[in-house]
Amino acid sequence: MIDLRSDTVTRPSPGMLKAMGAAELGDDVWGDDPTVARLQAAVAERAGKQAGLFFPSGTQSNLAALMAHCERGDEYLVGQLAHTYRHEGGGAAVLGSIQPQPIENAADGSLPLEKIAAAIKPLDAHFARTRLLALENTIHGMVLPAAYVEEAARLARSKGLATHLDGARACNAAVASGASLEEICAPFDTISICFSKGLGAPVGSVLVGSTELLARAHRWRKVLGGGMRQSGVLAAACLYALEHNVERLAQDHANAETLAQGLRRIEEIQVRQQATNMVFLQIPQRHCVPLGDFLKERGILIQAQYGTRLVTHLDVSAADVETAVAAVKGYFADSNG
Ligand SMILES: Cc1ncc(COP(=O)(O)O)c(C=O)c1O
Repeated sequence: MIDLRSDTVTRPSPGMLKAMGAAELGDDVWGDDPTVARLQAAVAERAGKQAGLFFPSGTQSNLAALMAHCERGDEYLVGQLAHTYRHEGGGAAVLGSIQPQPIENAADGSLPLEKIAAAIKPLDAHFARTRLLALENTIHGMVLPAAYVEEAARLARSKGLATHLDGARACNAAVASGASLEEICAPFDTISICFSKGLGAPVGSVLVGSTELLARAHRWRKVLGGGMRQSGVLAAACLYALEHNVERLAQDHANAETLAQGLRRIEEIQVRQQATNMVFLQIPQRHCVPLGDFLKERGILIQAQYGTRLVTHLDVSAADVETAVAAVKGYFADSNG
């Protein structure tokens, strides 16, 4: 199958499985799994932070970070489109008693500075206490401009707010912009980095930040059920990904560009946007389900809905992209003929 639904669909490669099988293990709830410790230290070092903490998912890593920054009755500023706000089951409110204050994202994914400033509440018993600004990079595949991120973080700090980055795809942002992971992470107090997206691991995210903040997140991880035992078997996959699958993200970005170029030549569909490893399409409603079915019969999976998003990853080759474009062309040739 050529699976373009998401970069979360990758399967561990033979090399990754071998590394998992060979991992030295311990009980990480007792803090004695050496492979987990190695991963946490390696990610912290690359991100330029004091410490790292391994989580089973990005959702839990983001939530533990929010709970490390905010207490009951506090508020975090977040984009309307942000994963933490929109796609994580409202966990901050449900489990953290943290009120989200959503802010409309600009077209480039940023949160306009004047909207951030206007959303910060005065200290008054009527209001939740605004404690945190949370950004996402990449967001919908787009890399946030570095100068913007700097300014947003400076504004947050000047108002006494902490900063968190949902960096599920921070490595895509680094590779696409030519910045180091450390530069992408520098403006933030905590960053959640996923290994189960474009980096190709089956499971795992690492939260990085100061030792003090991570001690708080460690407690919340346990409360949220994220304390894992011989999790070095999973951490080994993430270490393998860190060593082998970061620089190659450039290939996914190039493939997404080729995919967008190919699809732009098809009259019936509109490529709304392409950035890093994502291509957003607008497909006339009447074609969505039939196109999805047509492609599925030919071994190509897409999320067939109005406003479809196609994602490239390490299990999609340049040849697969050509195959997918040809198949979409074939569908429209059939439906017009
Ligand atoms: C931007 C972003 N943040 C966080 C997550 C959550 O990661 P997980 O699925 O590991 O919980 C995702 C998942 O797709 C994501 O795309």
